[in-house]
Amino acid sequence: MSITKFSFPTTIHFGAGARKLAGPHLAELGLKRPLIVTDKGLAALPLIGALKADLEAAGLAVAVYGGVFGNPTGSQVMNGAAAYKAHEADCVVGVGGGAALDVAKVVGLLATHPGDVMEYVWDHPQVRPIGAVPYFVALPTTSGTGSEVGRSSVISEEDTHVKRVIFSAAILAKVVFADPELTLALPPAVTAATGMDALTHNIESYLSPAYHPLCDGIALEGVRIGARALLTAVREPGNVQARADMMMSSMMGAIAFQKDLGAVHSCAHALGTVCDLHHGLANALMIEPVMNFNIETVPAKFAELAHVVGLAAGTAFVPWLAHLKHQIGIAPSLAAVGVKREHFGRLVEIAAADMCHQTNPRACAPADFERFFAEAF
Ligand SMILES: NC(=O)c1ccc[n+]([C@@H]2O[C@H](COP(=O)([O-])OP(=O)(O)OC[C@H]3O[C@@H](n4cnc5c(N)ncnc54)[C@H](O)[C@@H]3O)[C@@H](O)[C@H]2O)c1
Ligand SMILES: [Zn+2]
Repeated sequence: MSITKFSFPTTIHFGAGARKLAGPHLAELGLKRPLIVTDKGLAALPLIGALKADLEAAGLAVAVYGGVFGNPTGSQVMNGAAAYKAHEADCVVGVGGGAALDVAKVVGLLATHPGDVMEYVWDHPQVRPIGAVPYFVALPTTSGTGSEVGRSSVISEEDTHVKRVIFSAAILAKVVFADPELTLALPPAVTAATGMDALTHNIESYLSPAYHPLCDGIALEGVRIGARALLTAVREPGNVQARADMMMSSMMGAIAFQKDLGAVHSCAHALGTVCDLHHGLANALMIEPVMNFNIETVPAKFAELAHVVGLAAGTAFVPWLAHLKHQIGIAPSLAAVGVKREHFGRLVEIAAADMCHQTNPRACAPADFERFFAEAF
């Protein structure tokens, strides 16, 4: 597989082996002391040791901050910023899934700016300005969030677990090294859940009503590529082509959702907050009720989605989605993953207050969210 370079808007080196380009790239820029930011699970895998050795082979003095876990919180960012200062780092190398990359995106910011990470969330009443931040490159190890090409960092509040967003072009990765080989060790359940996140990004951004033909084109192609690869990536973890397709679909989804998202994500944000559910799994569990609700508003778009996943004319998209979820082993219901009826009140409240559904193709009232959760239950 050859390594190809794209730019929309991030420079992306894409292909098997692309990770090897990171060390020489930093060294060429005169950087000397990278801090790798990653999660606890990955820090224990050989993958991080191998990447560290690659960077060292390029003459760099490397330290690793492996303190990210779960839906990451503010203290994980602040600890990362302390590690950056302790190492006297001059750049950040984010390695991991959405959680590690979201933290990596703002570690350099907090190491060089005053205050707490929560004072940089976009809707903070006295949001602090973001100036120049240290050089940051990203190496994704999951194919789902596409955080490596996005300008937002999703960090949960320590006590309430409410997800807050730092949103700025300043925190975009300068360069992404998208190497599907880094995802070969992903367990099938994580491949399935993160893959559903990627599909949901592409689908929701395509369905949202904003005028953005560029993103619509990317989203439809992202659905096509993800639809053909996800089952293979789950069943054959070592299939580099399927892994590459999922990594591409994931980045396309995140590039497309600069347009907008929809109500599936509002539900998923609530499930992350209330039940600490994995983000991709939460989307996978909520996508059918929301799509069944959306279909009457934008039937032509659903016909187009059916077309790009290869269905015959007149065949419906949502049953295809349900079948795919079943094949890749997504849990059958919210109840099966530990959600309880007594959670519904808070889930509805948080989903209704979430911004994402404001760009859903059909307006959602709290009663609609109540129905979505009940149907998925
Ligand atoms: N910034 C954005 O635009 C954006 C968009 C969607 C979601 N998110 C955020 O991303 C997070 C979810 O990210 P995610 O779905 O990538 O999951 P994750 O980062 O939480 O990773 C899931 C699990 O997979 C493990 N893992 C990661 N890579 C692996 C590999 N190559 N081999 C083996 N195990 C591996 C991790 O250790 C972790 O246990 C949430 O915090 C969510 O809020 C951000
Ligand atoms: Zn998502």
